[in-house]
Amino acid sequence: MGRRIDQTLGALLPGLAVESLAEIDSTNTELMRRARAGRLDPVLLVAQRQTAGRGRLGRQWLGEPGASLTFSLGLLLAPPDWSGLSLAVGVAVAEALHPAVRLKWPNDLWVQDRKLGGILIETAAPPEGGGAARFTIVGIGLNLATPEGAGYATPPFALRELLPHAGASAVLQQVAPPVLQAVRGFEQFGFAPFQARFQARDALAGRAVRLSDGSTGTAHGVDAQGALLVHTAAGMKAVATAEVSVRPA
Ligand code: BTN
Repeated sequence: MGRRIDQTLGALLPGLAVESLAEIDSTNTELMRRARAGRLDPVLLVAQRQTAGRGRLGRQWLGEPGASLTFSLGLLLAPPDWSGLSLAVGVAVAEALHPAVRLKWPNDLWVQDRKLGGILIETAAPPEGGGAARFTIVGIGLNLATPEGAGYATPPFALRELLPHAGASAVLQQVAPPVLQAVRGFEQFGFAPFQARFQARDALAGRAVRLSDGSTGTAHGVDAQGALLVHTAAGMKAVATAEVSVRPA
């Protein structure tokens, strides 16, 4: 990667290494392997191609060189409360990209009800003697061009529909510093400072939604922990678990 991004990120987090690979199975998987081998220094790992990119809920994330930006940020974090981290990252990515980018709880980036990208956060077991800190892997995938293939649960959106000349390294330059800033801000202050910013881009607000547990209701934003508020026949429900998927009904 270029020196500019190294310098910008290094100023935010001294010692952060920026590494770019032509191909890897998954940038998240690679950073998890490294963490398990005791490599816990902060790193931003970008891949031109992932052969086994992963999404949430065991889904695949496919991406071709030049057609998508795929990277993971890995660093030790010790927030007092972890809830809402992926939402905070989504806020940072959306704000950095374009006013048209919306957030679909918990961590998809949508434009016009189509999926521009997603976020997959994973944490490694705490290192021995490392206190409360966990090595945290923030993986982000963005479609720059329309991906090949069919059968997407949500039709894909390509960033180049909004920004025709968007290239991987310029977009990384635009997005990575705010993401790092958001992660460190979250570590200190939690999700609360991101709540209103999430609501300003909430793709589900006021819409009828169906949860994967079968219940339905109307989405009413998120609470101070990042739980989705859904008004159901049985009253207001706070959906906290990321294992529940939500779709506009
Ligand atoms: C989702 O939409 O379910 C999340 C997609 C996350 C994809 C990114 S691409 C970089 C990083 N490495 C992975 O294997 N996954 C994340």
